[in-house]
Amino acid sequence: MEFIIRRMGREDWAEVGELIYTSINYWYHTHGSGPKFLNGPESTQLFCKIYEDLDPGCCILVENPNTGRIAGSCFFHPRETHISIGIMNVHPNYFGLGAAKVIMREILDIAAKEEKPVRLVSSAMNLDSFTLYNRCGFTPRQTFQDMYIEVPSSGLNVEAPALSGNVRDAQPEDATAIADLEQELVGIRREGDFAYFIENTDKWWHGSVIENENGYIDGFLFSVSNAASNILGPGVARTEEQTLALLHAELNHNTGRSPVFLVPTDCRQLVDNLYGWGARNCELHFSQTLGEWNPQTGIIMPTFMPETG
Ligand SMILES: CC(C)(COP(=O)(O)OP(=O)(O)OC[C@H]1O[C@@H](n2cnc3c(N)ncnc32)[C@H](O)[C@@H]1OP(=O)(O)O)[C@@H](O)C(=O)NCCC(=O)NCCS
Repeated sequence: MEFIIRRMGREDWAEVGELIYTSINYWYHTHGSGPKFLNGPESTQLFCKIYEDLDPGCCILVENPNTGRIAGSCFFHPRETHISIGIMNVHPNYFGLGAAKVIMREILDIAAKEEKPVRLVSSAMNLDSFTLYNRCGFTPRQTFQDMYIEVPSSGLNVEAPALSGNVRDAQPEDATAIADLEQELVGIRREGDFAYFIENTDKWWHGSVIENENGYIDGFLFSVSNAASNILGPGVARTEEQTLALLHAELNHNTGRSPVFLVPTDCRQLVDNLYGWGARNCELHFSQTLGEWNPQTGIIMPTFMPETG
């Protein structure tokens, strides 16, 4: 099918919100799980709102030229060091007709012009999206298990991790140190995202940092809680112990909810500690890259808002 390719405008938010809601829920429903989005098709317009705040004009749409209906959408996030991709959706009426491939080609052309590597996080249980990215040249780099914990309204009923005393709320002046740490440990930089989370105009975000004995930031973890997402991340730390202390803090900012968080599957001690807190697995994800990539040296906790990889 020949699609029209264009950018999303404010007038498209309602249709794109419905597209995201329908596409994701349909896919999971037809692959044996319950819906991911539960708060109605207007709730997923929050992706448009947040991503337009962060990156105005960075959503590619493909349109059916005969009906004017939007067949697919994908946001991309140009950053200092790379471009990340997410959330990609095609309407079920258009599955298998090449819509996603057209969108990917458009974004990969932008990345090639900017000479930047591309990063994303994709489900390890979704062969459709895996194949889409795999055929476009992406390489899976790390596996994450999506865990969740039902946090009682009184807070986690577990012993606080040893390093909990070193955790504090993130402050606006921390954004540069947080970005420096991620650049050192992961090789990517996106200071504006951290400044946006900490500014927290919409009251959805929270961030914690962990300091070492010299008062330097050695780790951070953000969380978002709104009608479309309740997830912890992005986060990075030097050690599993620091990551556990950050998780404890952010889970306790989400009392009465069941936030999801992505933990590297090779962090054995961290995963065992989380099982001890009552965590359960709900999915698996791969971080994937196309272009230059250097193995990270810290613990990464990616998220889907905004995508990291
Ligand atoms: C994943 C998704 C975006 C794919 O969109 P699509 O428009 O149907 O994909 P396309 O038709 O462009 O296909 C892309 C490529 O993947 C291939 N492909 C897709 N699913 C495949 C599968 N299960 N096995 C083998 N190949 C597959 C196609 O053949 C095509 O490659 P080719 O043209 O070289 O043959 C769509 O299924 C979707 O929106 N799913 C629900 C939401 C989702 O999972 N989003 C991604 C994560 S956020």
